Amino acid sequence: MKLNLKIWRQENNKSKGELRDYEISNITPDMSFLEMMDVLNEELINRNEDPVAFDHDCREGICGSCSMFINGQAHGPDRLVTTCQLHMRKFKDGDTIFIEPFRAKPFPVIKDLVVDRSAFDRIQHAGGYISVNTSGNTQDANAIPIEKRDADKAFDAATCIGCAACVATCKNASAMLFVSAKVSQYSLLPQGKVEATDRVLNMVKQMDEEGFGNCTNTGACEVECPKGISLENIARLNREFLKAKYKSQ
Ligand code: SF4
Ligand code: FES
Repeated sequence: MKLNLKIWRQENNKSKGELRDYEISNITPDMSFLEMMDVLNEELINRNEDPVAFDHDCREGICGSCSMFINGQAHGPDRLVTTCQLHMRKFKDGDTIFIEPFRAKPFPVIKDLVVDRSAFDRIQHAGGYISVNTSGNTQDANAIPIEKRDADKAFDAATCIGCAACVATCKNASAMLFVSAKVSQYSLLPQGKVEATDRVLNMVKQMDEEGFGNCTNTGACEVECPKGISLENIARLNREFLKAKYKSQ
């Protein structure tokens, strides 16, 4: 396959970025999107040009770092996959592909396609820990009966990989889907109930301080989320928040 790439190049947070054109050939349909980017970078290095900076780590859909906007969609045209799981067979020979960083005010561009998503880390830190007795007489987790429906929902929420596609897709740069997943994975389980009040209040406070917008009820986040995190979690976050507000007064 031969492709025309229009890639966002930006030296650093202070500089003005722009889309630059690159032509690439010898791309096979079985390559992943990141492997296609690797081929381009090798060519750029061989020509003594600056390679395109992009985030990646696991390359198997679990770390959430390979976040980029591809033809106007977070993680590209496929459903329920991350950029590293996207294959070039989703594109046609001769296609033009626009590749841009995730854009949101709380995620400043570091270089090219790499953005600073430490705002997510600070939200998670604000959530704190759960109280688990680790003094040697820890109760076996399997000894606490949990309804299957709740266990499944908690597990589904815990599959959020913190990639930020939900934020980048939302017209309000809302982090509600991410925060709701992190709140839900604990609030549904008995182990998470002890600190539930502080957790939700602190995480929402931090989310607001970081500058994320409120939910627009558009549902684009759920559509673009590579892990299929359900909007149901945002409803749960709102309930948990109201309950916590009431308790804390
Ligand atoms: S909710 Fe989905 S889109 Fe948002 S950070 Fe988690 S995995 Fe990514
Ligand atoms: S590189 Fe880890 S999810 Fe894509």
